[in-house]
Amino acid sequence: MSHLLFVETTGLGVQALAHAKRRGHTVTYLHCPLYDFTAPPAQRSQAIQLADHTASFTDPLDGEAVYGALLASGADPGSVDAVLSTLSYGAQAAADLAARIGARGTSPGGTLAARDKGECRRILRERGVPSVGFQVVTDAAQALEAAETIGYPVIVKPVLGIGKAVTSIARDPSAVRAHFAAAAADRDQLAEGMARQLDERYLVEELVSGDLYSVEVAASEGHLVPLVCASRKVSVENPVLELGCTVPSGLPAADEAALGRYAVGVCRALGLDLGIFHVEVMHTPSGFRLIEVNPRLTGGSLPDTISSVAGVDVFALLADLFLGAPLPGGPLPLRGSASHSFLAAHEKSTVPARLPGDWFAPFLARLHSGYVRVKAGDVVPPMRTNFDSFGMLRALASTPAEAEAACSAVKTDIEALFGFALLAERTRTPAPVA
Ligand SMILES: Nc1ncnc2c1ncn2[C@@H]1O[C@H](COP(=O)(O)OP(=O)(O)OP(=O)(O)O)[C@@H](O)[C@H]1O
Ligand SMILES: [Mg+2]
Repeated sequence: MSHLLFVETTGLGVQALAHAKRRGHTVTYLHCPLYDFTAPPAQRSQAIQLADHTASFTDPLDGEAVYGALLASGADPGSVDAVLSTLSYGAQAAADLAARIGARGTSPGGTLAARDKGECRRILRERGVPSVGFQVVTDAAQALEAAETIGYPVIVKPVLGIGKAVTSIARDPSAVRAHFAAAAADRDQLAEGMARQLDERYLVEELVSGDLYSVEVAASEGHLVPLVCASRKVSVENPVLELGCTVPSGLPAADEAALGRYAVGVCRALGLDLGIFHVEVMHTPSGFRLIEVNPRLTGGSLPDTISSVAGVDVFALLADLFLGAPLPGGPLPLRGSASHSFLAAHEKSTVPARLPGDWFAPFLARLHSGYVRVKAGDVVPPMRTNFDSFGMLRALASTPAEAEAACSAVKTDIEALFGFALLAERTRTPAPVA
């Protein structure tokens, strides 16, 4: 039997701990209360209950604190076989801790190269992997110069950004100035755990247009495999905001294979060597262009959307991979299509005061799965980051388009019931009018 150490987990990632326990492995879970906002309390408690050893640390960027938590948990560092995190905010701490105690883990250098979006683009440029124009800046004056050189429109995002923190599309210099004028206030509004990970650097990069996809790339023992490609739904009004995913991607087979090869090339260039990595890619008229790489399995609801049609539990696959299981030979075969959509408000809104306690039940009956986190009379925020959505709808069907339509139909009916605008989603950019 083996010993698997988790440095934080997403809510859904608790399934990886549960799988390891079912297999008879020892599980240590190191918990950081700064990230409690990323999962419902019940899931966090479940992780703590499942673990054989557990302790808390205060800051994932403080390697001594994370190592101290391992010692405090009572686990013997020498008995740990592998260390991982399913939560973005814990990825670097997990990689660093694995290296420190001599356990299996993702390369710390590869993890940093993915997290640091400027370094990531620099490496891709050096390796000749197609990417977008970019510059790293620290203030508005530098950003304005960078935008002039790159050409408008640009996107301005924190070099270490996660979850859409302080990210703006700028179509002219006034929008660049507005981004920096609002940046301090925007950072103040973030959950402390989100703000803590940022530094003063921003990336100004070419805004590319097209359809957004993601690829989960699995890596082990020098091999890399594109496990599954998803198409991603974005807000019609603000395409920075993501509103769900569909698998399979809906791309023609040859394009999907090319997307998989591109994502594998990106992970290889960065030195991502063990784990499952989430690669976001825009399909532009000139080809595939990286948006970003997360050095961990996809977050949000996508793991369960994949599992629902792949016939395997992706968290089981992840845990086994870290413990030395061989890579799947190729992309996961999918039986059918699955799509999920998030519920999020356009502006601060109030859920009607007169709704029955089980108002969601008839909607859920039309879906494969889903949840809501609001009840009658609740006030919901406008969506600014990934953590502002308040529900998820998931449908299964025989084609991606049908699964998407089933989600949209329920979303439209919930919008009518609520009487306020939900953020509208799109998967594919509309074809230009001839
Ligand atoms: N260069 C670009 N061109 C076009 N769109 C972009 C570009 N960079 C980012 N975006 C859009 O903005 C979104 C957020 O960017 P990015 O993924 O880098 O931020 P993030 O905060 O790390 O997001 P998350 O952690 O939620 O994945 C992307 O999903 C994409 O829709
Ligand atoms: Mg992203």
